[in-house]
Amino acid sequence: MFESIPAAPADPILGLADLYKSDLRPNKINLGIGVYKDETGLTPVMISVKKAEQQLLETETSKNYLSIEGYASYAQASQRLLLGTENPLLDSQCLYTAQTPGGTGALRVAADFLAQHTTTRRVWVSNPTWPNHHNIFAASGLEVATYTYYQPETHTFDIAAMLAALESAKAGDVVVLHGCCHNPTGIDPTPEQWQQLSAFIQRKSLLPLFDFAYQGLGQGLDEDAQGLRLFAESHQEFIVCSSYSKNFGLYNERTGAFTLRAATPQAASDAFSQVKAVIRANYSNPPSHGAAVVATILNDQTLRTIWEQELLEVRQRIQRMRQLFVQTLQEKGATQDFSFINRQNGMFSFSGLTKEQVTRLREEFAIYAVASGRINIAGMTPENMSRLCESIITVTR
Ligand code: LMR
Repeated sequence: MFESIPAAPADPILGLADLYKSDLRPNKINLGIGVYKDETGLTPVMISVKKAEQQLLETETSKNYLSIEGYASYAQASQRLLLGTENPLLDSQCLYTAQTPGGTGALRVAADFLAQHTTTRRVWVSNPTWPNHHNIFAASGLEVATYTYYQPETHTFDIAAMLAALESAKAGDVVVLHGCCHNPTGIDPTPEQWQQLSAFIQRKSLLPLFDFAYQGLGQGLDEDAQGLRLFAESHQEFIVCSSYSKNFGLYNERTGAFTLRAATPQAASDAFSQVKAVIRANYSNPPSHGAAVVATILNDQTLRTIWEQELLEVRQRIQRMRQLFVQTLQEKGATQDFSFINRQNGMFSFSGLTKEQVTRLREEFAIYAVASGRINIAGMTPENMSRLCESIITVTR
C-alpha cells in the first residue's frame, strides 16, 4: 500500500535547516530559517524565560491535562499584548483566545474552523508569503488565492496592486495580513495604508485574519500592533493567529494563540465552542510548558521588565546588523544598491538575490538563504559579515 507513494518535496525552509545541519563546512552561515541568533551566533534561552522556568519547576504540582482552550491567564495576557491593556474589547465578551501549539497550530485551527463552520471557501494570502500558509489553508480544503504585495523594482509595499487583486474577492473571503515584519519581505504597511486596507476590507465584507508572529521584533511591542489595533476599532469580526516562538525564543515549546472576535457575546461564545470542538478533534488540548512560561512572565512585573529589555536588545541587534550589512556591501564594492534593506522590519529581508545566486551561495560558500531570496538578518554577526558580503558580491557580479 505504501509502495506507490511518491516522496514529498523538501520543505523550502525546514528542508533547508536540515541541509544546513548536515553541512560539515566549518564556516557555514545560516540565513535560512527564521530563528534569532545573538552576536556570537547562538540562539539563547532568554533570562526571563529561565527565571520563569525556575519558578514553575518549584511550584508545579501536576501534569494533568489542560482544558481544550488552555490557561485562562495566558489567554488574557495574550489579548492584552495584542490589543493593548486599555482596549475596550478586552471586557466586551466578544473576544476569545485558545492556547495553541505554535502560530502554525493557531493557523490550522483557524483554517479548520473556517472551513467547517463558516461559508468561507477562499483565503487570500500575499504574494510572496510564508510558504506554509499555502499548505495550511489547502490542508483544510480551502482555496488559496494570492494578492500582489511587493513591488520588486522599488522594494516597496504595492498597496494599489493589492487592492486591485482583492477587488475580485467575494464577501466572506478571508484576507491573511501579516501583523508586522512581513515574512518574507520585511516591508509593512504605513498607518495610513493600514487605514486604507481596513476600510477596503470592510467595504468588501472580507474577513481579516492576522498572522502575528513577530510582535516586538520590528519597532516595538505597541508599535508593531498598530495595524491590528486599528482594524480592531472598526471590524466586528476578525481572527488573530499569534506566536511566541520569536519574541520569547520559545521555538521548540510550540507556543501560540488563536484569538477570535465576533460581533456579539453570544456569537463569540457559540463560535468559540466550535473552535474548541475543532481543537478536540485535532490535538485535544495544548501542551503546557511554553504557555506557562509566557503567562508567568507577562503577569509578573519584574520578569516582564527583564523580558522587554531582552526583546529590545534583540530588536536593536537586528537593526545594527541591517546597517552593518548595507555598509559592508557598499565598502566592499557592491555595484547594486542595497540601502533598501535598512527600510525593512524584523528578522527578514527580501534581498533580491535570485534562485541561482542563492544556490551558488550555498554550494560555493556554505551560505544558506531561502530560494526566494529571503535572508534572515538575525543570522548575521560582526564576525561572519565580511565573508558574507564578499560572497554576495561574487555571486551578484
Ligand atoms: C520561518 O519563516 O523561517 C519560520 O517561521 C520558521 C518556519 O516554521 O518556517
